Amino acid sequence: MDLELNSFSLSSVTLIVLLLIFSCTPAEGNFRVIGSPETIVAALGDDIILPCHVQPQVDVTGLTVEWSKPDLKPDPNDRLRRVEYVHLYRDAREDLDMKIAEYVKRTELFADGLTRGNISLKITNVTFEDEGRYKCFIPKLKGHIKSSIIYLYVEPKSVTTETPLQTPDPKEEIDTNVVCAGEVLITAVCVSALLTILSAVVFAVYWRHKLQKQEINREPVKGALHKGHVERC
Ligand SMILES: *[C@@H]1O[C@H](CO)[C@@H](O)[C@H](O)[C@H]1NC(C)=O
Ligand SMILES: *[C@@H]1O[C@H](CO)[C@@H](O)[C@H](O)[C@H]1NC(C)=O
Repeated sequence: MDLELNSFSLSSVTLIVLLLIFSCTPAEGNFRVIGSPETIVAALGDDIILPCHVQPQVDVTGLTVEWSKPDLKPDPNDRLRRVEYVHLYRDAREDLDMKIAEYVKRTELFADGLTRGNISLKITNVTFEDEGRYKCFIPKLKGHIKSSIIYLYVEPKSVTTETPLQTPDPKEEIDTNVVCAGEVLITAVCVSALLTILSAVVFAVYWRHKLQKQEINREPVKGALHKGHVERC
């Protein structure tokens, strides 16, 4: 009976610990798209790379990857008022159907990069019209942050490395911070819950051990008293 109870409480503790560990490991598909917090500076006519990647690393060759300019207005001549893309990767190849004319033959994703979640975009022969905000977006990514904004600044031909004052979309940054803070909090709660349960288990085992020892020590005394009583009678 005692043994049964012991193994029952042990297995339930094991179950709780396992459940906690399970719920604490990052959920499958907690991917996020990360761009660049810094403005990308290019000189007129340069070939540049707009950095963007998925973390943790994952093969995205089977997903749709969209590069767009969020500040661009839909084409007024298009009845469907669709927004065109700087680069659209779909069905494992570039889709040219809705590509902005100015970017035709000037953009490229890295085939080997896609297998590692690197969706950085190469733009050749940069023009002043290329300047502005770019958005890399994976609509079907399993995660909370499916897009990021990268700012491209194009300066005249002279080669200087001065960083302009433009900052990336602050909303995007806040989103990232909130998610990070949430993750840290969850991890902290999980770790402290685990530690509490572990110390409770250690304490219980220790206490049980001590009680058993006391009982063993007490038993002969009881027997002696009983004996004495019988003798007295
Ligand atoms: C993504 O690929 C580009 C081009 O190969 C490279 O410059 C960049 O460092 C890569 N980014 C990451 C995060 O691996
Ligand atoms: C780069 O673009 C400019 C104008 O936008 C054009 O005149 C020039 O031929 C282009 N260079 C290359 C290498 O495509």
